Amino acid sequence: MSRLPIAAGNWKMNKTIEEASEFAEALLGFSPNTSDIEIILCPPFVSLYPLSQKLAHTGIKLAAQNCHWETKGAFTGEISVPMLLAVQCQYVICGHSERRHIFGETSEDIGKKVKTAIHFGLKPILCVGETLEEREAGQTEAIVLNHLSHGIATLTNEEALSLVVAYEPVWAIGTGKAATPQDAHQVISFIRQQLAEKFNEKTAEQIRILYGGSVTPENVFDFMKDSEIDGSLVGGASLDPTKFNKIILESLRPYQ
Ligand code: PGA
Repeated sequence: MSRLPIAAGNWKMNKTIEEASEFAEALLGFSPNTSDIEIILCPPFVSLYPLSQKLAHTGIKLAAQNCHWETKGAFTGEISVPMLLAVQCQYVICGHSERRHIFGETSEDIGKKVKTAIHFGLKPILCVGETLEEREAGQTEAIVLNHLSHGIATLTNEEALSLVVAYEPVWAIGTGKAATPQDAHQVISFIRQQLAEKFNEKTAEQIRILYGGSVTPENVFDFMKDSEIDGSLVGGASLDPTKFNKIILESLRPYQ
């Protein structure tokens, strides 16, 4: 079963609107292939609308970095799913490790975000992954299972088809120490097995599972040539249009 690969750039709290716009122009200058791979930019909220204008009809898609599970109301500082859809967002990152560890988001909160996103037609990129301490204590699968099972707890089989999962070991994020493709393969196969148990084999085969954590133009091919790994969620290396374009090209190489 072939799954459309993904190259997603998570800019985190980087780039003003002007810088975001310059990036988009530079990336478009490379005429990236948007038919054989989904290219997704995840800028800060304020750049979503201007980028939606700039990227209209280019095939490059937008993701938000977070959302709230309620659709409106007294939630100061939050952004709702309908607001994101109104600026042509198609994806939303749910449960990034920085949201979990710096801002104290719980797996239950993240599950509610995933459910609301799918309900309204926004595709969640659900992030799961263990810390170094948890890995060294042999808890990788238990932690990943905990993140995953809460994240997808209330999804139906049909809803699950909108889901993307990103395996992002916390110790690999922003450290320059990526997981080995073998480690990523092992955990991603485990995730797919769990998805098959929760939904069914056919559904699990259709869900894209990404790797994230110190992905670079140099190492992305080694992840992408593993048929279990459907793409990457890239932080640091996605801030530079030349590097990100290289990541897109390298991600496509195993498919050619
Ligand atoms: P990194 O970040 O590529 O800078 O390690 C990945 C992420 O946090 O999604």
